[in-house]
Amino acid sequence: METYSAAAACENATVISSIQLSPLLSFLIAVQTAALASLGGGPNFDPKFYVDLPLKYPLNVTTKAFQTLSSSSSQNTTIPPSAFQQFQNSYFDEPGSDLPAYTPADYTPTPANFVPGVQNQQVRKWALQIHALWLILARQTAAIVEKQPDQHTLLPVPQPFIIPGDRFREVYYWDSYWIIRGLLVSGLVDTAKGIVESLLALVEQYGFMPNGGRMYYENRSQPPLLSMMILAIFKREQDPSLLKTALPVLLQEHKFWTTDPHIVLVEDSGCNVHQLSRYWARWDSPRPESSTTDTNVTAGLSTSRQKQVYHDIATAAESGWDFSSRWMQDQEHLTTLRTSSIIPVDLNSFLFQMEVNIAFFAKVVGDIETSRNFSVFAKSRKKAIQSILWNAKMGQWFDYWLPACSKKGDIYPWNEESQNKHAFASNFIPLWCGVLTPGDKKIGKVIAALNSSGLLLAAGIATSLKETGQQWDFPNAWPPLQHMIIEGLASTKSHQGKKLAVSIARRWLSSNYASFQVVGKMIEKYNAQYCGQEGFGGEYNPQTGFGWTNGVVLSLLQEYGWPADLPIGCS
Ligand SMILES: *[C@@H]1O[C@H](CO)[C@@H](O)[C@H](O)[C@H]1NC(C)=O
Ligand SMILES: *[C@@H]1O[C@H](CO)[C@@H](O)[C@H](O)[C@H]1NC(C)=O
Ligand SMILES: *[C@@H]1O[C@H](CO)[C@@H](O)[C@H](O)[C@H]1NC(C)=O
Ligand SMILES: *[C@@H]1O[C@H](CO)[C@@H](O)[C@H](O)[C@H]1NC(C)=O
Ligand SMILES: *[C@@H]1O[C@H](CO)[C@@H](O)[C@H](O)[C@H]1NC(C)=O
Repeated sequence: METYSAAAACENATVISSIQLSPLLSFLIAVQTAALASLGGGPNFDPKFYVDLPLKYPLNVTTKAFQTLSSSSSQNTTIPPSAFQQFQNSYFDEPGSDLPAYTPADYTPTPANFVPGVQNQQVRKWALQIHALWLILARQTAAIVEKQPDQHTLLPVPQPFIIPGDRFREVYYWDSYWIIRGLLVSGLVDTAKGIVESLLALVEQYGFMPNGGRMYYENRSQPPLLSMMILAIFKREQDPSLLKTALPVLLQEHKFWTTDPHIVLVEDSGCNVHQLSRYWARWDSPRPESSTTDTNVTAGLSTSRQKQVYHDIATAAESGWDFSSRWMQDQEHLTTLRTSSIIPVDLNSFLFQMEVNIAFFAKVVGDIETSRNFSVFAKSRKKAIQSILWNAKMGQWFDYWLPACSKKGDIYPWNEESQNKHAFASNFIPLWCGVLTPGDKKIGKVIAALNSSGLLLAAGIATSLKETGQQWDFPNAWPPLQHMIIEGLASTKSHQGKKLAVSIARRWLSSNYASFQVVGKMIEKYNAQYCGQEGFGGEYNPQTGFGWTNGVVLSLLQEYGWPADLPIGCS
């Protein structure tokens, strides 16, 4: 791979010309910093908590009280814990109190024709317990948020939604895809449509879908799966009116991902120039929800290097894989993140899928010219993926590393050395996105490559082979990655692919089931090595709830059922 000295790279590059934090966010970051100093860090200190605090009084009143508190303890600048706590209780409501619970109108405790293939009564009971968790995770925007926008970092959305859970107390972008897949199994079609309506409203407002429903997520997106949410609902209802509403909004989102700074040009050995996309957050400061942590990461670096690292931290958050050796030069240190100089396999596969979906939606609503144009875009992207990211010898796709400090409009000559040959679950996502069609001879090679990658373990698919202590690395196994690879294998229609898909699905469900029997909760990630164990590492404690985990379990139970005489759990 490209040799790259993180410390020397991009010394003079500016990423973003200037960042203007809103007065509310600047204030809450100051509160977060003061809280860390006053209360001390430790595993239970969550910086996001402080930027989620709803203000009881107008910002100027709250700011003034905070200044008084800070200056009264001026001797050593830290506020005594009891005084801080008192200030917090007097001036703020609980995080999440501006997102009241909500009972979806389409919810019933035992939906008709629920996971019909599940014959094992223990598994059926568990499926119904998971179904009931939608009630725990359903939220709506409190009316007060729109009336007092300077007292809430929450972004109001028109319809109720399902949150992932725990510290993720607002709506999220890519999580919502698996939540919707689960809601459709549960018969909550209107709730699913409401989530899409809310996301479409955000895209119309921002020109792209923010990472999630908070002010501090406004400058980055997340893996683009909005068209897949719409397709899932359309498959269920065949109602073209949703497609008609969504089409212009999806065109806006497509433009966001296919123009500067997301677009990258690479020239293959036959002198054909291909357009691909990368993640690129419009942000080069500490993430407000993790300000104290990010500041700590870059301590000691020059100001311009700090900006680069902050940009690549925020960009990793846009990728959904925050954090992973996948984005690091030395596979270990966050200061060597170079996320924005990488062409990711999964992003480009998602965009191929989006282009295919837009072509289809446009055809259904009778916009033949858009349909034709997007069929051409999809075809070019497939060609680009197969020319730049595919590796025939190794039977899989690899991220492509650009030189550091890539500039606008540069055309990079392709070379095989720049493919990142490490094993990541993302190397197999193109199967899910239909980059290969059933019958393609390459399919056998991909299945063999996955089977011998080392990623397939007793309790699921590991994210990578490198144990870094980061969340998106070994031995963590994430629900969306399991689901995309299982569905991808099944979609090949090959005997081996389908067999492997069932086997991974059974092991995954057994592990989730066993864990649930012990802890009584569904968790955001598990340990691929050991059945029934949760994942670990990264910036925060493992979260429970959990939107996409529940969605994946319900979707797999719907697809594969569970025979009456087949035991579930760890053997
Ligand atoms: C971040 O997003 C907000 C909302 O769209 C916008 O007003 C602001 O200019 C953006 N900041 C940067 C640095 O692009
Ligand atoms: C806050 O702003 C309001 C409206 O501008 C003003 O009436 C009020 O006096 C201000 N309060 C403080 C404490 O500055
Ligand atoms: C900052 O980094 C140091 C050293 O890596 C670590 O011990 C400490 O816990 C970190 N503090 C925060 C708030 O992340
Ligand atoms: C389709 O593509 C052609 C050629 O690039 C362009 O001129 C036309 O405006 C496009 N039409 C639509 C509806 O996007
Ligand atoms: C996967 O590898 C194992 C040996 O490690 C082999 O027994 C099995 O047949 C392989 N399966 C596929 C689908 O290639």
